[in-house]
Formats: sequence, C-alpha cells, structure tokens
Amino acid sequence: MPLVPPYIESLEPYRPGKPIAELQKELGLTSVVKLASNENPLGPSPFAREALCRHVAELHRYPNGGLDLRELLASKFNVKVGNVIAGSGSEGIMSSIIRTFLCDDDEVLTSEGTFVGFYVLARSRGIRLVQVPLRDYRFDLEAVARAITERTKIIYLANPNNPTGTIFTTREFDAFMKSVSSRVLIILDEAYFEYARENPRYPDSMQYRYDNVITLRTFSKIYGLAGIRIGYGFAHDLLISNLLKVKLPFEPSTLAQAAGIAALEDSEFLHRSLMVNAAGRRQLTAALEELGLHPVPSDANFLMVPCESEGVALCIYEALLHHGVIIRPLRAFGLPHCLRITIGTREQNLVLINAMRAVLETLTART
Ligand SMILES: Cc1ncc(COP(=O)(O)O)c(C=O)c1O
Repeated sequence: MPLVPPYIESLEPYRPGKPIAELQKELGLTSVVKLASNENPLGPSPFAREALCRHVAELHRYPNGGLDLRELLASKFNVKVGNVIAGSGSEGIMSSIIRTFLCDDDEVLTSEGTFVGFYVLARSRGIRLVQVPLRDYRFDLEAVARAITERTKIIYLANPNNPTGTIFTTREFDAFMKSVSSRVLIILDEAYFEYARENPRYPDSMQYRYDNVITLRTFSKIYGLAGIRIGYGFAHDLLISNLLKVKLPFEPSTLAQAAGIAALEDSEFLHRSLMVNAAGRRQLTAALEELGLHPVPSDANFLMVPCESEGVALCIYEALLHHGVIIRPLRAFGLPHCLRITIGTREQNLVLINAMRAVLETLTART
C-alpha cells in the first residue's frame, strides 16, 4: 500500500492569484495592482476592523463554533439556528460537506469552467468527479440534469459562476430542481450573490427552501474579509446537524466571527462596494470592448475575457505582470484560453486598461 493515495499524489493543489509581494520581488516593481482574486478593492468593512480590535482581549478563550453568527443569521433570514452553519470561509464549509456526505462509490457532478477550489476538494476525496461542458459560458443545467446517475451524491452549482461571472436564471433553476431527485445533495455556491441579487432573473436561493439544497455564502467578497476566513451556509437542520459533527469544532475563529457579525451590519459599506463595482464593471467593459476584446457579461465583481488561444491569453497575462498588473489565467478552471479580471477601483481599472492597451499594441505589432 503506498503511503500517499494515488488520487492525492496526482492532485494539482489550488493555486491562488499571484500575491503582490511575490511579483514585487520577482520583477523589482514598486507599484503593483492585483485584480486576480475577486477581492473587494475598498478593503475590509470599517465595522469589521473596529470589531477586530474590540475582540483581541478575548483571544485566550476558545471560540464558540460560530454560534453568535449563526444566531444573528438565523434571525436575519428568519430561519432556525439549526438551519445555519458558519465556517472558515465558504470553502471551509465545502470541505466539511465533502467529508460529511460522500462515500467511496459516490459521484460528484458539476460543470466545466467553474470554481477550481471545488474541483480540488472533490478530487482530494478520491471519488469520481463528473463535469459537463458550459454552454455559452453559462452553467448548462439541462446537461447537468441529464448527467445524473444512480451514483450521483452531490451536485455543485455556482451562481453567479466563477470564473465566467454568468448566472443561471430562476426559470432554469426551477426546471432543474423538478428533474433532480431529493436524494441528491445540491451545493448552491452564492459567493457573489450580493452583486447579482438586483437582477430580476437571478434565483436567490433563500427565497426557496429545498431540503436537499445547501446555500453557501461568504464574507470574502463584498464584505472585504477574504483574509480572515469567514463564510456561512443554510440548509435543512438534518444536513446542518450532521455537518456540525464533522466541522472542526473551533472553526470559525473568534476574530473571524466578530468581523463577520460586524460586517453584516455595515450596510453603508455594502452599498458603496456595490456602487464602485457597478461603475467599474461599466468602465472596464466599455474600455476592453474598445480595445477589441469581448468580456462576457457579468453579474459579479469580475469579468472574464476569452482570447484567441491559450497562447495569447498567457502572453497577455505575462506581459501585464511586467506592467505591474496581476490578473488570472484560467487553465486550472478548465478555460485555458480565457483571462479573469477582478473589477477594481476606478484608478486601478485605469491602470489595467492602460497596461492592456500597451500590451495589445505590442502583440499586434509582433504578428
Ligand atoms: C464561487 C466561489 N466559491 C467560493 C469561494 C471561496 O470563498 P471563501 O473565501 O469564502 O472560502 C470563491 C472564492 O474565490 C468563489 O469564487
């Protein structure tokens, strides 16, 4: 018996967007703009910053497993505490889901071109991961439904989807749910739901309550708290009670929970973040189109740009690094010819646009 199971040995670890400090060191740059990890360009919610200072004095005590945040979310969303879980980011909860519900012969079903973190987690369990193709860069829910087998245990859906920024509509989701047996668990990853909820075609999963759906949300995106690791989920109490048996007992940390609770009350920050994002999305879309690119219409805080080939995408990515701009190439997401650009502040977007213009001019001059 090998020490390391073959499915771990062959696993490609999750590679996050290139850190600013790494690029500065590599290329000796002083000024770097990172638009690679869908972070909030305004920084953390000010309420959360203040809460962090207040809770430092409690750090000798163990955390309470997210109970305070669960209670607050339960009252906000009018559900029971037993329907809510909090964890170390939504990925922390996803990891608990993988450990709680899967047996060796089960299959996990999702799409190509969705969140790479989920692929890595599913593969780390050594089960079969089935991926159906996207259709026009959108989840093809009909194809997902057709791919269900007797062994399908979990279906992962991201809405809005990362990295495409696209949504599936209420109509598509309703039809999908009618065709899925209640013995299949659906993970509905709504990491970017705040950016999409004003879209009348967007199915906010909290307006439904299916017993086999787990909704996942996060403080990492619009609340600007990616670094502290706090996320939450809603589901039937039977699912939550089993998840709580498996979740690490002291996840989330005291500071993560305090930051999340404070951020939830920071409606001014939420509003400002939405406004900056909407303006930035318009600014970037128009500028990229003017440069001859075709960003996919997005309901999130990033834009995906398909290129002619993987070679061209990588060339643009590398050249932008030399201009001090980090974006994300998407091979690991199954979209090697695409690039993903996080929407920044107006000034950051301008840096990206000017750098992109210079890079494309050099590329055209070369060919
Ligand atoms: C669709 C999706 N789900 C989950 C996550 C992870 O979020 P968290 O920081 O809450 O673990 C991300 C982060 O990029 C994401 O894009």
